Parts: sequence; structure tokens; C-alpha cells
Amino acid sequence: MIMARDDSHLPEKLRGLRIPLIGSPLFIISNPDLVIAQCKAGIIGAFPALNAREGEGEPPLLEAWLKRITEELDRHNQDNPDTPAAPFAVNQIVHRSNARLERDLEICVKWKVPVWITSLGARVEVNEAAHSCGGVVLHDIINDTFAKKAIDKGADGLIAVAAGAGGHAGQQSPFALMREIRAWFDGPVALSGAIASGEALLAARALGADFGYMGSPFIATHEANADEAYKQMIVDSTAEDIVYSSLFTGVHGNYLKGSVERAGLDPNNLPEADPSSMNFSSGSSKPKAWKEIWGSGQGIGDVKKVTSAGALVDRIAGEYDIAGRRLAAEFAT
Ligand SMILES: Cc1cc2nc3c(=O)[nH]c(=O)nc-3n(C[C@H](O)[C@H](O)[C@H](O)COP(=O)(O)O)c2cc1C
Repeated sequence: MIMARDDSHLPEKLRGLRIPLIGSPLFIISNPDLVIAQCKAGIIGAFPALNAREGEGEPPLLEAWLKRITEELDRHNQDNPDTPAAPFAVNQIVHRSNARLERDLEICVKWKVPVWITSLGARVEVNEAAHSCGGVVLHDIINDTFAKKAIDKGADGLIAVAAGAGGHAGQQSPFALMREIRAWFDGPVALSGAIASGEALLAARALGADFGYMGSPFIATHEANADEAYKQMIVDSTAEDIVYSSLFTGVHGNYLKGSVERAGLDPNNLPEADPSSMNFSSGSSKPKAWKEIWGSGQGIGDVKKVTSAGALVDRIAGEYDIAGRRLAAEFAT
């Protein structure tokens, strides 16, 4: 495989990946098993801090997760010096309803989290916390205005969430969004939105992204904390089975039509929601977004079976290599 990618322009924490891919954070679904598997497979693995939820009076589960991930990856690196694990990332939801934010930031600083992914609001103090322990911050945005704000507030890089992405997706074409960002920003950028193949990853790189950012295909992995029926629905569905709606969280997102039907609603006739209903402190709306209404991006036509996360990364790496060679041959002299 050609692995002569020059990543020397990137912050050190983002260099040396096997393929230029980040496994994106998935509410409820991303857990230490998935993150460790992603990192060992050579891509950045990520989880939302909010996924680590302890019971009343118990010590913070986030701390236990960070300890386990850090120690397992260190052990892997000692045993495999030639194929070290990629660094991991923690996602902070920077939204006023996230009452745990301050505590979670402290824990992440203590464990020197290498990559910080921030979403739903750019805040200077979060970037400062990350930088205080040598972390790199990537902030997710859906348009160029938010991208400029994020960099003004001190983020090191951007995650461009284009149309077709799972979760709170944007509405802009990746072609438009990526080019507008690259007109003024030469720092790290990851591009997301229906990336589920090596071909799509190569396209993201061709547009000027340093990384692809891929979430939904990881739902259909053995490690993911998702119902087996959800995993199977990812395998069985295609782009036509995705509905874009604001009903479930107050912000527009992409969901599996099959799960909307299971909840007794008509996916083709969903009302709009009030944005002030967004809440990350506890489940509020009914049916419950994420638990009953299953999120997914449009790229899942490429997901043909439930596999291990490592096998999924192997598939993407193989396709990326073949697609890259085929395209490079067009330019050979
Ligand atoms: C079920 C689900 C849950 C998600 N949860 C989060 C989250 O907690 N935090 C976040 O920043 N992004 C979240 N996202 C968005 C992803 O991180 C990422 O932007 C998206 O998955 C990329 O598009 P793709 O699924 O088409 O690859 C979620 C996406 C899905 C599908």
C-alpha cells in the first residue's frame, strides 16, 4: 500500500494515521471498546463525554473510560512499535443544557486527552482547557460563518459537517462547504457527510480535507453500543431510507425511516419542532431521539454486513488504496 502521505503540516497529535480518517463520536453508541478498536486499526476513534454516565453517587465513569483507553493504547504501542495506535478524541457538547461540561473538562485535562472535538457552540474556555494539556481542538460546523467563529474563538481545526451526515447534519453540499473553508483556512479540516467507502474518503481528500469523518458505518460493528435491530437496519437501509427532521431534538438531523415507523410515526409527514426543546441533560421529548429514533447518515448503502470495527477500517483502507491508485494513473506522465 502507498502510505507516503505528507502530514507534516498537521499538529503532531493528528499525524501518522494509517488512513486519514476519524471515527466520529456517536451519542450512546461510542464506547471504549469501539474507540480502542478504531485507534488500534490506525484511525482516530472518538466518543462523546456524555456517553460515560455513572449512577447516582458513583465515581465519574468518564475517568474510568479515559484510564482504560489510555492504558490499553499505551500497552498496544509498547507491544507494536511499528504499528502504533492512533490517538483518541473526546467530544464535548458545548450546549447550555450540558450541566456536566465543567467537570468533564477537568477530567479530560487530567487525562491529557490528545484530540478534543467540540460541537453545538464554540467557547474560548473549552479551547483553553484543551490547550492547557497539549490537546488539539477540532470544532464541528455546518457553514462558513460558524467555521470563522470557531477559529476566532481558538479552535485549531474544523469538522465540516455537510449534507447527508448522520446526527445533526448540515444542508450544504460538501463541494461548496469545503471550498469556502479552504479559501481562507489552511489548518486541519475533517469533512463529514455520508462517507462510508474508500472512494468517498478519497473524494474528501481531493476537496482539500485532511481527514474524512465517518460515523454511521461504525454503528454496524460488533463493538458499537447499539441494539442488534439498529445495526441490522443500517445494513438493510440505503440513502432513500433516511429522513431529515427537526422533530426529535429541535435541530435538524438525519434518521432511519424504519425507526420512525417503529415508533408509530409517518416519516414522510413529520411536523417541525421548536429549537428551544433541545436538551442534553436528560431525555425529554417523546419518542426519544437516539434511543428509539435511530440516527444515520445517507452513506449506509455501502454497509453490507455487521463486522468488527477493525474489519470496517480494513475495508475502507483497501478501497482507498485502489481508488487512489486508479485516479493517480490518470495523471501519470
Ligand atoms: C447516531 C448518531 C449519534 C451522533 N451523536 C453525536 C454526538 O454525540 N456528538 C457529535 O458531535 N456528533 C454526533 N453525531 C454526528 C457524527 O459525529 C458525525 O458528524 C456524523 O456521523 C458524520 O456523518 P456520517 O454518519 O454520514 O458518517 C452523531 C451521529 C449519529 C449517526
